[in-house]
Amino acid sequence: MNRKAIVMEAKALAAEASRLIRSYADTSFTVENKRRFDLVTDADRAAEDLIVNRLAKRFPQHGILAEEGGRMESGSDRLQWIIDPLDGTTNFAHGFPYWSVSIAWAEEGVVEVGAVADAAGRCFWAERGHGAYLDQKPIFVSTTDSLRQSLLVTGFSYTIDEDEHTNLEAFSRLTVKTQGVRRTGSAALDLCMTAMGAFDAYWEYALNAWDMAAGSLIVEEAGGRVTKPDGSPLSLDQGAVLASNGVLHDAVINELS
Ligand code: IPD
Ligand code: CA
Ligand code: CA
Repeated sequence: MNRKAIVMEAKALAAEASRLIRSYADTSFTVENKRRFDLVTDADRAAEDLIVNRLAKRFPQHGILAEEGGRMESGSDRLQWIIDPLDGTTNFAHGFPYWSVSIAWAEEGVVEVGAVADAAGRCFWAERGHGAYLDQKPIFVSTTDSLRQSLLVTGFSYTIDEDEHTNLEAFSRLTVKTQGVRRTGSAALDLCMTAMGAFDAYWEYALNAWDMAAGSLIVEEAGGRVTKPDGSPLSLDQGAVLASNGVLHDAVINELS
């Protein structure tokens, strides 16, 4: 297995898909509702087609899990691509340029490569054991060591109007103990912003594997820590994540429990 070829393809495809999505933003796009608050656009679908077709051709033996098309029947489960073709669709649909393309590659369920391209085409990426980068530049988590000096970020599920556990209580609690808690609208990018030290921690409860696969590796490779919000090991299938600079991890767990 040529790991470098996988890294190169993940980065190239994320950047190319970001360019394709920008071309929809610059011309026109159509918006549909998957559920009441959950949108999908033709840009999401075009980006996913671009990524999935290229990967299926280039790595026919690998499995693919992508948000809009789900799990592809062909390919293995042992080597798998995990794709969110447009993370932050609501932002995209409203013209707020905080969205990303997230592509991860996992071996035996462990993410080994991650690439996240933002709306400007900048690419955050990591290969396990080799550090995290923004384009060519190494990135690192912050060194902030007190909640009072921290800037955090979180997110809410599309079913917040029906959920028993809404995350609003934790949002309020941490808002008054920190310099702020942002709600920016792209989980993959929130993880990358934590990896580059702009945010000191990020948590959310109802994600899918494609929202966090690439970004969680990027945080770890930037020197941060990623677990479930109660501190137990992260599971990509179980939706809940806490990523931090490591130093503040226990303090945030304390506020979330
Ligand atoms: C959403 C974004 C958002 C998060 C939601 C996700 P989508 O992904 O990552 O920040 O709060 O939980 O579903 O639908 O834009 O790909
Ligand atoms: Ca997403
Ligand atoms: Ca998406």
